[in-house]
Amino acid sequence: MTLKRTLGVCYYPEHWPETQWHEDAARMAALGLTWVRIGEFAWGRMEPQPGRMDWAWLDRAIDVLGNAGLKVVLGTPTATPPRWMLAKHPDMLPVGRDGQTRGFGSRRHYCFSHEGYRRESASIVTLMAERYGKHPHVAAWQTDNEYACHDTTLSYSQPALKAFRNWLAQKYQSTAALNRAWGNVFWSMDYDSFDDIGLPNLTVTEANPSHVMDFRRFSSDQVISYNRIQTDIIRKYSAAPIAHNYMGRVTDFDHFGTGADLDIAAWDSYPLGFLSDRLEVTPDHKRRFARQGDPDLQAFHHDLYRAVGKGRWWIMEQQPGPVNWAPYNPDPLPGMARLWAWEAFAHGAETVCYFRWRQAPFAQEQMHAGLLRSDSVAAPAHDECAQVARELAQMPDAGTAAAPVALVFDYASAWAWETQPQGRDFDYFRLAFAFYKGLRRLGLNVDIIAPDTADLSQYKLVLAPGVATLSQQLLTALETYQGHALLGPRTNAKTGDFATPVPLAPNLPGLDARVMRVGSLPPDLPVPLAQGGNFLHWREKLEGSATVVETTEDGFPAVVANGAINYLAGWPDDEALDRILLSACENIGIETDILPQGLRRRDTPTHRFWFNYNPVDMEWGTTTIPAAGVHWEPL
Ligand code: GAL
Repeated sequence: MTLKRTLGVCYYPEHWPETQWHEDAARMAALGLTWVRIGEFAWGRMEPQPGRMDWAWLDRAIDVLGNAGLKVVLGTPTATPPRWMLAKHPDMLPVGRDGQTRGFGSRRHYCFSHEGYRRESASIVTLMAERYGKHPHVAAWQTDNEYACHDTTLSYSQPALKAFRNWLAQKYQSTAALNRAWGNVFWSMDYDSFDDIGLPNLTVTEANPSHVMDFRRFSSDQVISYNRIQTDIIRKYSAAPIAHNYMGRVTDFDHFGTGADLDIAAWDSYPLGFLSDRLEVTPDHKRRFARQGDPDLQAFHHDLYRAVGKGRWWIMEQQPGPVNWAPYNPDPLPGMARLWAWEAFAHGAETVCYFRWRQAPFAQEQMHAGLLRSDSVAAPAHDECAQVARELAQMPDAGTAAAPVALVFDYASAWAWETQPQGRDFDYFRLAFAFYKGLRRLGLNVDIIAPDTADLSQYKLVLAPGVATLSQQLLTALETYQGHALLGPRTNAKTGDFATPVPLAPNLPGLDARVMRVGSLPPDLPVPLAQGGNFLHWREKLEGSATVVETTEDGFPAVVANGAINYLAGWPDDEALDRILLSACENIGIETDILPQGLRRRDTPTHRFWFNYNPVDMEWGTTTIPAAGVHWEPL
């Protein structure tokens, strides 16, 4: 599939006097933008009083933007129900883990399980879809805004409790089956009725992990079914593609689940904010990349959302300058607003939209930059965006290049290891991302794949660290897999009911190996490996007759193998991981390049791109790639 790459921006006509819209729209078009996303927080202006609709301003805004040549992404406004909604549905607010009801006055103040709010959402989405579903300027939709943002997936409310009991009754059919699955005999926790089951918060000590995991699965299902209410309605009235804007490092619900009901996965990329508050990195790394962002975090999400979007994905919000919400909010290095966009395009993005057009002079995000300053003068990212638009016009359309490597990513494993980490530092995202970074250091194109992928044959190398329960599809695919699969640590260590499997993990096809003992490791207690590097955070001791490929210095297998199946008995540090990945690539015939710090590359079907995330120029071959610079060559 070839791809027309485009740019866009997020705009809030309701924030500005109508007299300004024409000029804004003309400037957007002159900048080379194709898309403008609007509407996602404007419920209060669409329905100022219950049932009293005001579409006139939105009609005019869409016309002004459309007549300037822009295509509109229309957001459903359900992330911000107006204040009057609470009078109708006082119990619609989400409840935190501490049992406290969360209040009105910002956004996302709803519980996914509230039936009344689901009906209200259906009704505003129906009105919008009826009115704009066939509008010539409305060329795409966005459902809601950033599901899960502000920790809103899990709600410990009465409506959630009721829906959870229902969900459990459907899943288990009898409390006897539930008691068995959860192991409720353990502390006399057996239930006689589904109506006796509570939510797993406010227990005296930790709740039964199977109970917690079912609540996590249920809560994820609630997001998926809530989103489906919206997509089902929009599809009745509109043929335009539907997107949702996901987030970075948010694993609270199964994005593959919502993805199945959407046409496009979009995500919101704030590289400096993420580096400042969402990554476990050394102070040196934070300092070096403070104004560029982590060299791999954006790429990871590009690859993840390409999978979630079944090939179609966008950046719906791209950081344009300092943001307002991280512990520290530096100014991006000149060049980064361009580099970030190009890295997204190199990973197959269709569209990159900057957030936002003009910096808001009021309310919560006054300190958040836009393409324009609050006084409408161009901010630095404006000209970088113009440059990207000019460059795009010169670049041939291209799809996504094939990747030799796949990394399995499984949301349920994030919940599993949050539920039972067995060591403070065992975090699933952190583990998967560490492996991804290792692949990027070798200059590889990577596909992230869903945990129920049934066909691995297009990949030479497949990694699945920390996948708590391997799906039947993956297990079956591994039985006949001809490449190099690297599984572990902790892969297949739980049953679907969140119990310890017997025979013991990892139970991989043809591999005679059992984890007989695990240990979590404090930061100052790594386990050295005989060939160099260490296990950090986690190590396992294995028994069985599988071929030992590497050992720890204290004499236990570190990597074992049989045929295509390799199992890694710990969490490798960078040195160990680089060696293990490099030898896997050599073994299976994947070409690699060991890249210097902060220099990254990515191939499209037509070009090889280089991204310099460093604050200094980098030499590569005969080329000098400037600090915060992008370089490309035809393939
Ligand atoms: C996103 C959100 C936007 C805006 C932005 C600020 O999480 O979707 O509405 O708040 O952050 O960086």
